[in-house]
Amino acid sequence: MASSSKKKLIEVALPLDAINKAAAKENNVHTGLPSNLHTWWSRKPLGIARAMIFCSLVDDPCDLSSSQDIEAKRSYLLSLAARLADMDNSDDEILLSEAKREIVASVGEMSRFWDPFCGGGALPLEALRLGLSPIAADLNPVAVFITRVLIDLAPKYAFRRPINPSDGTHFLEGGAKFEGLKKDVEHYANAIHKKLVERLQEFYPSADIPKKLGGGKGDVAAWIWARVVQCPNPSCRAQAPLVNKFVLSTHKGNEAHAVPLYNSDTKSFSFTVQQSGSAPAGTVTRTGAKCLACNDPIAFEHVRSEGVAGRLGYELMALAVEGRLKRLYLSPTEAHRRSAFACVPTWVPETELPESALGFRVQRYGIVKHKDLFTNRQLTSLATLSDAIVEMGEEIRRDAKDDIAYGNLIQSFLALSLSRVAQTNNALVRLFVRTSGTSKGTPAFDRPIVSMAWEFSEGNILGSSVGSWKAAVKNPLTALASVPSTNIPAQAILRDATTPWHNNERFVVSTDPPYFDAIGYADLSDFFYIWLRRAIGSTFPDIFGTMLAPKAGDLTRDLGRRDVTKTRASQQFLERLHKAFSAVRNSIRDDIPVTVYYAFKQAEVELSSDTDYEADAPPSTGWETLLEGLFTSGFQISGTWPLRTESANRLRAIGSNALASSIVLVCRPRPIGAPVRTRRQFLNELKEELPNALRYLQECNIAPVDLAQAAIGPGMAVYTKYSQVLDADGRTLSIRDALALINLALDETLASQEGDFDSDSRWALAWFEQSGFTEGEYGVAEILSKAKNTSVSGLVHAGFLVSKAGKVRLLRPNELAESWDPSTDTRLSSWEVVHHLIRVLDAGGESAAASLVAKLGAHAEVARELAYRLYTMCERKKRATEALAYNGLVQSWPEIVRLVREARSIPMDQAELPL
Ligand SMILES: C[S@@+](CC[C@H](N)C(=O)[O-])C[C@H]1O[C@@H](n2cnc3c(N)ncnc32)[C@H](O)[C@@H]1O
Repeated sequence: MASSSKKKLIEVALPLDAINKAAAKENNVHTGLPSNLHTWWSRKPLGIARAMIFCSLVDDPCDLSSSQDIEAKRSYLLSLAARLADMDNSDDEILLSEAKREIVASVGEMSRFWDPFCGGGALPLEALRLGLSPIAADLNPVAVFITRVLIDLAPKYAFRRPINPSDGTHFLEGGAKFEGLKKDVEHYANAIHKKLVERLQEFYPSADIPKKLGGGKGDVAAWIWARVVQCPNPSCRAQAPLVNKFVLSTHKGNEAHAVPLYNSDTKSFSFTVQQSGSAPAGTVTRTGAKCLACNDPIAFEHVRSEGVAGRLGYELMALAVEGRLKRLYLSPTEAHRRSAFACVPTWVPETELPESALGFRVQRYGIVKHKDLFTNRQLTSLATLSDAIVEMGEEIRRDAKDDIAYGNLIQSFLALSLSRVAQTNNALVRLFVRTSGTSKGTPAFDRPIVSMAWEFSEGNILGSSVGSWKAAVKNPLTALASVPSTNIPAQAILRDATTPWHNNERFVVSTDPPYFDAIGYADLSDFFYIWLRRAIGSTFPDIFGTMLAPKAGDLTRDLGRRDVTKTRASQQFLERLHKAFSAVRNSIRDDIPVTVYYAFKQAEVELSSDTDYEADAPPSTGWETLLEGLFTSGFQISGTWPLRTESANRLRAIGSNALASSIVLVCRPRPIGAPVRTRRQFLNELKEELPNALRYLQECNIAPVDLAQAAIGPGMAVYTKYSQVLDADGRTLSIRDALALINLALDETLASQEGDFDSDSRWALAWFEQSGFTEGEYGVAEILSKAKNTSVSGLVHAGFLVSKAGKVRLLRPNELAESWDPSTDTRLSSWEVVHHLIRVLDAGGESAAASLVAKLGAHAEVARELAYRLYTMCERKKRATEALAYNGLVQSWPEIVRLVREARSIPMDQAELPL
């Protein structure tokens, strides 16, 4: 086993840019990933998980004899990590063997891996792919079920012959990895479809297509309903429709919208669908609703109290029908209304939604039980479907003969598909009109927010579109593309992370605890749990033993509850986190650092931009909480890496000022009896350590916006290696104080880099700090120029300053001369370089910037340093637009460099970046 003092690669270097790019790519892919198996919130990209586990296991080669050897080996390991991060290489056996060889060379025999907060299973799955035997644990049964399929059941059944009577006879040698399993799932899913048709057909009539739209019969893809409430105006009392948008499709040549028609005798509305003209305005906005009969406003309070009294109804607004050539939108008929309302479910989930919980906003409209999230027809179909899966389980296990585990795996896929039907066929599925103009239902519970859908789309379980059994079966099967083929033992178990292990086993740990007050996992998961339990509970009694997902131990349980104060809930979160990290501390291999993902609040703020959102999030204190939890349980931090784990459609794109969405903390056990230090000693050490650490981060091309977060790593590494840091009065310096000092030291370090800049740029920096691009007094500029050893007239001559009528002003990038040519500029400054690069990048993109960089040669590298400095300055001064430009320039840097190299035919793997 490697000695505990050996540094791991992750504590020295990381191919950050490649990892973040790979994550962005993975986040834009919507098929072939564990997220297709089942929804789970805040999943980590597989490529990131793989690269991070690899880098935490392999040694940094710092003890090789020559610096050349060190560099060569390090860059080889970094390039391996960069390739591992790319999702397209998940099945590259040569790469994986190479990675495993390096891991074994560093850690000796492969250890067991433990993720105490496994969620959707990304980290254990990647540990498994890298040859470790994982134990994936979670308090949540749905998470455990998903992860069990992913890491335990499925990997052992790659390249297997199907067992079903129609496909089982021909051996699929040479077929695709999970072809046999797919054939089996499809076979039994088809058999279930037949049962559904037999039992449910009467509730799902087809539609008569009017002659002008082609005539004949068409299958209904969805019934679109509008909620209705009685108007509070005593002289009106109409059943008023509550509709956000009446638009059904804006697709060219297939436009359609619903039009409400009022019947004053019955005081109710019916709807007709029109293919031309413009849609009426919706009746619900963020502030309230409006009655279409009397035009009076309807306050949300009224809608809520009617909901609570059970008087919020729904009325059929339109049918989406499969026409011969295209989707048709038709007016509803009485027969269709009746067939929906005729359903009387035989079983309904009477379980209660939490009274109040993170992300839940529907209870105040009277949706207080799980059954209230569905129409009666949906409840009937889902109950029928779950019964059919139980029945089919018997048949599958008969066909699987002795291989019970394989039978269970097939049945699990059917249950995962049932979960997908529930998610895509409930009364919170919104009709989403895409940019192409076509519309489709969007699954509920995709995001960790449960808010009201005024109009909703009820899919046809017997059809083939969103909400159908057939469509739902396809989605989980695509996830198999991400599953490795292996017989390595893997376990997914229900286990509270705060429970210590009572054996002597030592694990490798990489984990992703729930973030502070962002996602209420236990409450959200109940939506799926109730159906899964019914369909497959008896197959996995160790997972589905309770009525609902256990709540008591969930780390985020009390956050968001009305009866628990925020302070109390945060305290409990910290206590549980501390317990969980202590359990980890006691059961890890001391020679391998633990990696902890910390998801940022910012992602959640973005997630919450919802029509029915009421902002109630407190300012983030997550950092401190997490660091506190780690420190008090005996860890020291040896690095922090900012990663972009959330998808760009949730966060603003990488080129923006959005912070990295996760930080990975690299932690080691703090030696017992670690020394005490004074505040002064701590500060001195910070000043010694930070400059090199920052220079490295800049070389890694870390986004300027992420620099402050990344600096916490080296800063906290200093703080946490001591048992205590004491201030002048002998009091312990808190984590909060330490963070403030680290920030200060970061500022000073960046300011000290100014020595690298020419005098014109130093003048411009000082001026910019004070005035930005606005005008200032000539006199002040002149005095400053003396201090910086330059002159105002020289700066004007240099071409980036205007001086007129006693005032001076820095030119904005778009005001700089387009004809500028660095090769003929006799007074070239870094300031000009940065701002011309921004001008060119803005106007002509990365290839234009690359042409300029090619001309600039070594001057370009200093300009990047200046961009970091300018970014931090703008951030402090809250100049968001300018900050965006500097951040953007640094983020485009690798691509610009690549283009320069390409033009000069320099291979990318050459160690030196400079041009
Ligand atoms: C951020 S998620 C993990 C996501 C996962 N890394 C992925 O990629 O899908 C955190 C998990 O912690 C779980 N959790 C919360 N409290 C827990 C506890 N006390 N013990 C174990 N797991 C817990 C939640 O159920 C949730 O699945």
